[in-house]
Amino acid sequence: MGDRITHLTKLDQTVLKWLADVQATVMKRIQQKVTVETKSNYRDLVTNIDREVEQYYVSAIRMFDPHAKILGEEGFGDQVKDMKGHVWLVDPIDGTMNFVKQKSEFATMLAYFEDGKPVMAWIMDVAQNETIHGGPDYGVYLNGQLMSKQVDSQLATGLVILSGARLLYEEYGFSEIAKSALGYRVYGSAGISFMHVLKGQANAYASYMKPWDYAAGMILSQSIGLKVGTIDGTPVNVLLSSVILTATQGTFDDIMVLEAKL
Ligand code: IPD
Ligand code: CA
Ligand code: CA
Ligand code: CA
Repeated sequence: MGDRITHLTKLDQTVLKWLADVQATVMKRIQQKVTVETKSNYRDLVTNIDREVEQYYVSAIRMFDPHAKILGEEGFGDQVKDMKGHVWLVDPIDGTMNFVKQKSEFATMLAYFEDGKPVMAWIMDVAQNETIHGGPDYGVYLNGQLMSKQVDSQLATGLVILSGARLLYEEYGFSEIAKSALGYRVYGSAGISFMHVLKGQANAYASYMKPWDYAAGMILSQSIGLKVGTIDGTPVNVLLSSVILTATQGTFDDIMVLEAKL
């Protein structure tokens, strides 16, 4: 076990250095001209910074862990078909719309698995220079300070965070979830949303997400005692997109009761 903690500490310290580099570079580059392009539709933005940050992570991972497979949103990694061996999931800038329009409330995220087992994850709120990092055998830390396990809470007593589009188009029972909660919020960044739940500021976060949107949040949530699952109850497959719910146990159960009535 001692060896394991040494291995995880080295991993954590290495990635925290990459994050510090990314934070400094992104906050400097954000003051300069950023090139914005659209991908699948007019709301799906990508910038030169998204690409540069992913290229940075891919070369850093290749040096540190040469045999690993890397699944990155912007396509600089590998075609990952299975979770055998070392697998890294990378979302260089999460909340690109916030990055472009607000210059705040965007994240950078990495998740690391060994033979499909969640090992470590990192979510950084870049503008706030705040990082939640850790894993199931390591504990979860906020800027190096150990976080305590989540206190249970029911849906009606707290905030839920939802993705704006699903709420707007009344999909997956999101409007019923919003009505049943004390309040609801939409942040435009999966990473920032996960951070709010991890810090106990909200009871739940639900959104349709791609693997790199939820891999890190899932690992950190499970490691701190939150429940994570797909909203339709099917097992989570981290290589597939799905509607993922992370919540305190009580809120998770309340949402599942609502979903069963749809
Ligand atoms: C997006 C954000 C957003 C969520 C979208 C994601 P990106 O990530 O996390 O909150 O609603 O589904 O695609 O594309 O900005 O990394
Ligand atoms: Ca994107
Ligand atoms: Ca994302
Ligand atoms: Ca992204």
